[in-house]
Amino acid sequence: MKFLAVFCFLVTSIIVISCSRKSSPTATVAKTSYATSVNSIMQAKCTPCHIPAAGGKKLALDTYTAVKTNIDDIIRRVQLAPTEKGYMPMKHDPLPEAEIALLKKWQAEGAAE
Ligand code: HEC
Repeated sequence: MKFLAVFCFLVTSIIVISCSRKSSPTATVAKTSYATSVNSIMQAKCTPCHIPAAGGKKLALDTYTAVKTNIDDIIRRVQLAPTEKGYMPMKHDPLPEAEIALLKKWQAEGAAE
């Protein structure tokens, strides 16, 4: 009887583990979203000029809709050389590669909120 119980427990465990393994790849791929990745870049790098709450008077980039609408232009501008016309963030160091990559990933994945 004891053997049977242990056997059943093992079989159940194996089934549970193999099932959960199958679903894990989709669950572990982190999808970007405005709330989790993009907003913090805008708040940190485009402030104060584009952040009305910080006194910004330029195009407001503090909302999901505004950033989504302008993402093509944003990605284009942050990849310009600091000396080129239209470069952003104006008068600041260029965005690190990782942040530019994140903006591109967000756009490519459909710009989730
Ligand atoms: C020091 C102030 C300053 C910072 C910081 C700054 N900008 Fe700008 N931005 C401006 C000014 C001034 C303009 C208008 C002149 C122009 O179009 O080049 C502008 C224009 C823009 C435009 C075009 C807006 C329009 O009305 O067509 C976009 C898009 C933009 N910035 C994106 C960004 C992004 C993204 C960041 C952060 C990574 C950023 N900017 C950081 C000052 C700033």
